[in-house]
This record gives sequence, structure tokens and C-alpha cells, in this order.
Amino acid sequence: MSNLSVQDKEKVKVSLSVNGRGVEGEAEPRKLLSDFIRDDLSLTGTHVGCEHGVCGSCTVLYNGKAVRSCLMFAVQANGAEIQTVEGLAKDGEQHPLQQSFTECHGLQCGFCTPGILMSSVEMLNSGEEPTRQEIKEMLSGHLCRCTGYTGIIEAIEKVCKPNECKEGEN
Ligand code: FES
Ligand code: FES
Repeated sequence: MSNLSVQDKEKVKVSLSVNGRGVEGEAEPRKLLSDFIRDDLSLTGTHVGCEHGVCGSCTVLYNGKAVRSCLMFAVQANGAEIQTVEGLAKDGEQHPLQQSFTECHGLQCGFCTPGILMSSVEMLNSGEEPTRQEIKEMLSGHLCRCTGYTGIIEAIEKVCKPNECKEGEN
């Protein structure tokens, strides 16, 4: 076994903020951020589908930017602020996006939903009201096998324009 593979298995300290709380951990340099979030932090709301950057289900916010956590190593998050889907609800109240996804039937099995929510939060945090085309372009980075996307689009639009949603007419 080479020195490189021995070093690869040595754990490195990782210090970061997750959903506003400081977290200290250790990870092998090759450990994916998605695995660190799920396995070490027990935040299993971040889903892992393809593990190669295609499906978008592992999306989290990294210093406010939506990233695919399966394409990053945990050690790259050292010093960063990470937000996962678990950080969206406040004081027991769902985030408005979560409420509108429910009202507009923006999900079925829910596997893709955490990633879509995090990319939607990034989009809405810009303060600009997205056009339907911009929402579609954002969603082009997320695979959903269940909903047909119409309910998802309406759910995101509803947050910007209350009463837009057609209550699941998709
Ligand atoms: S699991 Fe990361 S993009 Fe599919
Ligand atoms: S709700 Fe099932 S994959 Fe999107």
C-alpha cells in the first residue's frame, strides 16, 4: 500500500457551521460532503441519488450558494456555512416554500424535494422575483421522477405571488 493511500485514510479536522450551529468533526480527505452531512451529522434530509452531480438531490447551500454536496469533499467545507433542508423550518414553522410545495402538490415521493428546495431558496434569496423561465432553468438541474414539475413551478411562484397556485392542478 502506498503512502498516499495511508494518508488518504487519515482523518482531518473539519470545523464548519451547519444550519447556524458550529460543528466540529473529522473526515477522511476523500469523504464526500454529502456523506459527512448524512452519516456524521445525521442530517439525512440531504438525499443522495446519482452521486455524480446529475440529479441535484444532494443540493445544499454553501456560503449561500447552491452546490451539489456529492461533488465536494467534506474537508472543502472547513470554515464554511452550510445550510441543509433541516435548517429551513424556524420555531416549528415550515419555510414558506415548504408550505407552498404542500399546497401546490409540488412533491410526491419527496426524494428530489430537499435539493429543489435548497436551489429555490438560493433563487429567492436574490430578492428578485424569478420568471417562469428562470424557475425552469433552475429546475433543469434537478431530476424529479414523480410530479411532472408543474406543481413544483407553481409552488415556487406562489411564494412570490400568493394565490398563484392552482392547488395541484397539474
Ligand atoms: S446525488 Fe449529488 S447530484 Fe445526484
Ligand atoms: S417527488 Fe419523487 S422524485 Fe421528485
